[in-house]
Amino acid sequence: MSCLRRNALATTSYWMISRLPSLSSTSMEPSEKDADKSLARSWRPARSLASSRHVVNHGVGEDVIQGFREAATEFFRMPEEAKLKYYSIDHNKPFRIFSGSLTSHNDGNDIRYWRDCLKLRCYPVERLMHQWPSQPEMFREHLAKYAVAVQELARRFLRLIAEGLGFDNHDFFEGDLSGGETLMNVNYYPRCPDPSLTMGIRPHSDRHLLTILSQGEVSGLQAKYRGRWIRVQPIHNAFVINFGLQMEIVTNGLLPSVEHRAVTNSAKARMSVASLITPKMDCRVGPAPAMLDEKTNPPKFKDFVCSEFTEAYEAAAGNREAVLDFFKIHHTQNPACVNQQFNMH
Ligand code: OGA
Ligand code: NI
Repeated sequence: MSCLRRNALATTSYWMISRLPSLSSTSMEPSEKDADKSLARSWRPARSLASSRHVVNHGVGEDVIQGFREAATEFFRMPEEAKLKYYSIDHNKPFRIFSGSLTSHNDGNDIRYWRDCLKLRCYPVERLMHQWPSQPEMFREHLAKYAVAVQELARRFLRLIAEGLGFDNHDFFEGDLSGGETLMNVNYYPRCPDPSLTMGIRPHSDRHLLTILSQGEVSGLQAKYRGRWIRVQPIHNAFVINFGLQMEIVTNGLLPSVEHRAVTNSAKARMSVASLITPKMDCRVGPAPAMLDEKTNPPKFKDFVCSEFTEAYEAAAGNREAVLDFFKIHHTQNPACVNQQFNMH
């Protein structure tokens, strides 16, 4: 961590945090253009390794993070009866609580996962905030501040990724590609009497472009690296940024999505807040033309409308390989045709 500069937006890979061999580390001053460039460049050499990162000194105030985390903790502390009326499996509800699984599909072996999740649409704030829980009292106010700050961080990050990938258009991800309603999972994992029997969230890759996760002080998140699960040790006030499956597809596999899961523990409850940066539902998504070369790097995936992706994700229950299989191009198809269909903006 010695290379992190004061007041810098700095990123380190999971592996560095976990004291495994260090693979990449970068830092930047938010106000300095040169420093911005150095972070952007870091995506190049590190790009295939950087599917999840810790970001510190990110510019989102501690008061904003803690303010919302406390409000969300209060929400889960409300009496059962107050929360029960929000329990629903209806995806169309503006906000709801559900227990257990990530998708509507259960595992074949009917495992129950040790999680309550408050799921809501959190950005754009002005349009959505009247739909959020009105209790506890300050919940909406804190969520509004948090959602705006995290969205700005995501916007900045996406610009750096575009720059780091060498795209001429640094706004590549702006517009429809990241302009869907941002979803939020507020995950609450109660103390689990026997963590060997179940997990909080099963292994999955997130479906969206990017997830910005505040995991609080209690560990539980694990990421798959070279076939092994490694613990992502929380860092005070840091965010974990994970690439989702749609980022993997847009970059034609160059920025792979990270498979992750959450384990429980018997000593402490844990709460995490995941903000999921999402394309518009009617946006066409596919490998970016700037990533492709007809001979050396043909498209590996078909393009799709975002809503089709949701169906595939549900059917594959979030499993990375199974979701990607839906969209993989098997080599009988002519890459040039697929290329022509691509129209992101
Ligand atoms: C999620 C998720 C991990 C965590 O909400 O998609 O993976 O640490 N959460 O709670
Ligand atoms: Ni996830």
